[in-house]
Amino acid sequence: MFDFIRRNLGKRSRPYGSRILGLSRVVATACLLLSLGDISFGQASVQANAILRAAPMGWNSWNSFANIVNSEIVQQQANTLATNGMKEAGYQYVVIDEGWWLGERDATGNIVVNPKQWSAIRPGQKDGDMANIAAYIHSLGLKAGIYTDAGRDGCSMYPDSGPKYMHTGSEGHYEQDFLQFSKWGFDYVKVDWCGGAKEKRSGAVQYAEVARAIQRAEKITGRPLFFSICEWGSQNPWVWAPGVGGIESTIWRTGGDIIPPVVESLHDAEHEKRVITLQNVLDSFNTGMHPEAQHTGYYNDLDMMVIGMRGMSEAMDRIHMGLWAIASAPLMVGSDLTRLSPASLSLLTNKDVLAIHNDPYSLQPIKVAEPFPGVQVWAKPMAVAGRRAVAILNRTDAAAQVKIDWSKLGLESAPRSLRDVWNRQAVAPSEATFNVPAHDIVLLSLEGEDKKPAEYRASESEINGIQAMSAPTFAQLEFVNNSGRVAVVRVKSTSGLSTALALPATTGLNTSTIGLILPHGTADLAFDAQPGVIRNLFVYSW
Ligand code: GLA
Repeated sequence: MFDFIRRNLGKRSRPYGSRILGLSRVVATACLLLSLGDISFGQASVQANAILRAAPMGWNSWNSFANIVNSEIVQQQANTLATNGMKEAGYQYVVIDEGWWLGERDATGNIVVNPKQWSAIRPGQKDGDMANIAAYIHSLGLKAGIYTDAGRDGCSMYPDSGPKYMHTGSEGHYEQDFLQFSKWGFDYVKVDWCGGAKEKRSGAVQYAEVARAIQRAEKITGRPLFFSICEWGSQNPWVWAPGVGGIESTIWRTGGDIIPPVVESLHDAEHEKRVITLQNVLDSFNTGMHPEAQHTGYYNDLDMMVIGMRGMSEAMDRIHMGLWAIASAPLMVGSDLTRLSPASLSLLTNKDVLAIHNDPYSLQPIKVAEPFPGVQVWAKPMAVAGRRAVAILNRTDAAAQVKIDWSKLGLESAPRSLRDVWNRQAVAPSEATFNVPAHDIVLLSLEGEDKKPAEYRASESEINGIQAMSAPTFAQLEFVNNSGRVAVVRVKSTSGLSTALALPATTGLNTSTIGLILPHGTADLAFDAQPGVIRNLFVYSW
C-alpha cells in the first residue's frame, strides 16, 4: 500500500491518513474542573485523574511550519498566542509537531536533538535540551506539547521538505520517551501513526500501551500529560480510543490531514500550489462525526485548524470555526499566528462561539433537518436544560431561506431567547427565518423548554427495555461515583455501540449527570460499572 502511494504521489508527497485509507477525503479555560479529588501516586500527588478536560485549545506547528519547526518559530508563536487575546480566550497549548527530532538516540536510548535547532534560551541552559522550550512556554503561562509516533519509524520517513529521517518513532522506547517528555516539562503529547501503519500494528493495542506509559510517567513526575491520538481514523478509533488504557481524557483524530502543510517561507513549486478549499474543511467535519463516542473528556479530533490560511475566505473561516465549535472538537490552530487577520482572530476569540465549544457536556451536534439538499440544520444539546446551539450550514452555491422547526430540536415551543453568535446579538424568536448566503453558516444559541424525556431505571449495571432509537438521540445518564476519582466505564448496546464514559467523582449519595448521544438503533445498554453506579437514563426524543 505504501509503495503504491509513494509511486503515485511522487517523491515529495506524504501519505496522509485519508490517502492511506482510500477514504474519500472526505471559557475561558480549556480545563473543565468537573470534579477535583486529590489522588496520590507514591510521592507525587496528581490531580490529573480527577480532571475531565474540555477539548484542548491551542496552537500546533504542523500546518504552517511543517518540519522546519525550531525554537525561534515556537517562541514567536507562543509570544503571539500569549499577547493577541487567544490566551485570555482559553487557548493554552503550544504543540511542537513533527520535525523537532531526527531519530537520533544516545547509547542508553535517550532522544538526542539538534543543539542549533533547540539552543539555550536563558542563561545557564544547555543547547539541545527540550526542557528549554517547555520552560519558555510555561513562562508565558501556557502549556507545552510535543509529538512522536507509535511505530519505530515516524512520519519523517515521508518528509514534507528536505531529507528523510528514519527511527523518529517511540516503539521500543515507550516508557523511556514518555517519561522524558514529562521530565522535560511537556503537558501534552500527540502520537502519530506512520510507523504503526507501516508495521500493520493494531491501533487499539499500541495506543493502550502508550496510555500506560503516559500514566507511568505522570505518576513519576506528578505532571499531567494530555494524550492526543493521531491514527487518522484508520481503525475506527471512536470505538476503542475513549478510555484507552484507562485514560480519563483524550482526543483521537477521525480522518487524514485537512491539507498538506502550507509553509509560506518555502517557495518551491509544491508548497506554492497548496491552497485550502471549502471542501477540505467540510470533508474533515463529515468524517469526524461519531457522536456516540464523544462526551466530556473524550473527543473526536477533526484535525488542526487552518483558519486564515491560504485559500480561506472570511465565510470559510466562519464555517470552519462554527463547525469545530459546535462539534466541541479540539481547537488546535495550525495557522501562523503572526499573520492572522483581525477577522480570523475575532472569530477564534468570540466568547459566544467558545461558550458553545466549552459546554460542559461537550457533545457533537445532531443533524435535525435538511430543508434543501446541502442546506443542513445541526443542533447540539447542552448542559443547561433547554439550551441548544444550532448551525445552519449552506454547502450549496445559492443563498437559502431557512425556517427552523423548533419541535425538531426537542423543544415544546419557540425558544424564549435566541442569539446570533457571529454578531453576538439577540434575535427575536418570532423572526426566526434565516437567510444563509451560499457557502456560509448561521450559528445560534438559544434557550427554551425541553420536551419531557422518557426515563429508564438501571438494574445492576444494565438498562434494559429502551425503545430502539430511530435516529441519533440525546440522553442524560444519572450516576453516583463516590470512588474519589474519575471512573472509566465501558458501555455497550445491542446496536453495536461500544464506547467509554468518564464519570467524574461525586460525593456521598449525590448523583451527577453526563450528556451522551445514543446512535441510531440503540436499545439495551450494558455498563462495566459496579452495581449502584449507574442510576437513571433520560432519553429526549427530538
Ligand atoms: C501526519 C499527521 C499530521 C502531522 C504530520 C506530521 O500526517 O496526521 O497531523 O502530524 O503527520 O508529519
